[in-house]
Parts: sequence; structure tokens; C-alpha cells
Amino acid sequence: MADIDNHLDARVPPVAVWQVLEKLRGQDLVDWRKAEVANRPSPDERNLPREFPFGWYPVLLSSELEPGVVKPLRHFSTELAIWRGMDGKVRMTDAYCKHLGAHMGHGGTVDGNQLRCPFHAWRYDGDAGVVTDIPYARVIPPQVKRKCIRTWPVTEANRLIWMWYHPHEAAPTWEVLEHPEASDPEWTDYEIHEWNVWGSLQNMAENGVDFAHFKYIHGTATFPEAELKFHEFGRAAVIKAKMGTPMGEVDGTIAFDTKGPGQSWTRFTGISETLLISCLAPVERDQINARFLFTQPKSQAAGPMGGLARAMIRDICKQFDQDKVVWDRQKFEPNPIICDGDGPIPKFRKEYAKFYVEQGA
Ligand code: FES
Ligand SMILES: [Fe+2]
Repeated sequence: MADIDNHLDARVPPVAVWQVLEKLRGQDLVDWRKAEVANRPSPDERNLPREFPFGWYPVLLSSELEPGVVKPLRHFSTELAIWRGMDGKVRMTDAYCKHLGAHMGHGGTVDGNQLRCPFHAWRYDGDAGVVTDIPYARVIPPQVKRKCIRTWPVTEANRLIWMWYHPHEAAPTWEVLEHPEASDPEWTDYEIHEWNVWGSLQNMAENGVDFAHFKYIHGTATFPEAELKFHEFGRAAVIKAKMGTPMGEVDGTIAFDTKGPGQSWTRFTGISETLLISCLAPVERDQINARFLFTQPKSQAAGPMGGLARAMIRDICKQFDQDKVVWDRQKFEPNPIICDGDGPIPKFRKEYAKFYVEQGA
């Protein structure tokens, strides 16, 4: 019987975290993915990085911000106001008004391309970070006529809005990479799955070079054979894996790449061609908002292969669920004891450190 089961499902039972997940279905699973993990130890106790790595981070879909709309956001432990001017350009500033501290993301209004505070209608230029109008004052105080509020570089690419984070407000040193599939009408609209991970971005990133966990957390039949290389903007991996599917084992290729700590994507071939854009944006030291955006060639998604294409997306999300069980509670171990079967974790850490300013290598 065991043999027959193995042919039906190449994954290796039992995997401990599956017991946490196997009872979750439908809306329960969707809720579990975002629900706060209560009573978790503090970021200090878990030794999570004190600093966020610098780079471009995707924070909204372009379609989530119409011209003339302002929204509140919170990322990098900072309250933010983001709006799209009538010229179509997105701008972002710190949320709190320099006058009496109103939160401009809640009830502020877009006036042309600028932002008006809801409290006393002071108007901010989001490019220069200055106040340009106070409707009830004869004179604008000189302190707010010069740059007085933090402005955040933003850009749009791949139908996403990206913000640049740098702890010292250094200007962007690279550009977001465009993926041709993202604007190709022959590819599907994004299918989106969302999580909150109650841990650090670095622990999540390390997962990809942690070869041994694939068998024990994800239940792959074998350890994946990965060709991993580190480059200026992070790391790229090509993994030829036997992918366990409900229909048995399939040969597949997974090509993963990054441009900085905030942009990563994966191309899957074998079962169904799929581009996954992983949107991971830190909110707090121990909270990452994660959205997976999937797109596939329409011909494959709708054709006879459609079922397989959907099964693959389900399987990728399930793997994320499995990792999340660990990430939500994981401590950062700065001096890990590594064995010979582990992936290149020390090398990963050394490379990743270049995106930190204070605690870099
Ligand atoms: S608090 Fe913003 S205008 Fe007064
Ligand atoms: Fe994983």
C-alpha cells in the first residue's frame, strides 16, 4: 500500500508542520495566513536584526492607487502617506503633519499633485517635502518653506508601486528590474496570495539557501540540486527538482533571482510556465507583509494544462505556509552550528550583510 501511495504523492510523510496546517481549509487558511501570532517573544529576545536592509520594496499594486487618492501605509516601523497626483505620479511622505501632527494618510486630500492635511489644510509638495500653502495664514513659517518632511523615493514597475528604503535616506543606487511577462497581454492578471510573517526578512531570505530544510519542512523526496551564485544584487539559483505533486513526481526547473533584498522573483518551468513575483515588505522588525503574485501564459492557464498550473500555485503557497510555521517563531542565531549537509548559510549571511548600513559585515 505504501508503494502505491508514494506513486500518488511523491512527498514524504510525515512532516511535522503539516500537522499544524492539515486542518486548515478555505477561509480558515486565508485567515491563518494573516492572523497575528499572539504572545510571541519580542524582536530583541529573538535577536532579529535591528536594522532593515536597504533597497526597493513593493508596497502596493499600481491599481490600488488611483489619481487623486491618498492612503495610509506603514512600513519600516514608519507611518506613511502615499498618494497619486492628477499627473499620475505617485508620491510618498512621512504621515505626520509638521503643524500639529495629524496623520495625513487618514482623511488627507490630493490637491492637484500635492497633499493637503485634513486638520488645518496645510498643503505639502511631495517632491520637495515643503509646505506650499496655508489657506488661513498670511505668511508660511520659514521652517516649513524649506524641506521639513521626509520624502520617500517611489517608482512603478511590473504593475507595482515600489518604495526605496535607506536608513540614512541615501538616494537609490539601482533600479527595479522590469519583467516582460508583467506587461504581456498574453499572460494572465496576477493571482495574489497574502500572508503576514511574524519574523525577519533575513530569516526568510536564508530559506532559499537552506537546502536541508526542503526535505524536512516541504517533504521533497530528495534534497534539491541547486546551482547557486551570489551576485552584486543578491543571489540567483537554478534548481532542478523532482517536484512532488498530487499526481506524482515531475521534473521541473525553478529559477530564482533577486535584485536587492526587496525584489525577488522565480520562474518555474516543467509543470507549467509560471512567473512568481514575491512582494515582501517589512512592516516591523518582526512583521513582513508578503504577497505572492503569480502570472502564467493565458494559453496554459486556460488550456488542458490549467488544472496543473493551478495545482502548482497551490503547492508553492503551501510551501510558504510550511515555512511560515517556522519563521513566525524563529530566533536569529548569529553563530549557527552548521553541518556538512547544510547549504551555504555563512556565505549567504556575509553577502546579505552588504544591505545593512550599521551592522554590515
Ligand atoms: S495638523 Fe496638519 S494642518 Fe494642522
Ligand atoms: Fe522553504
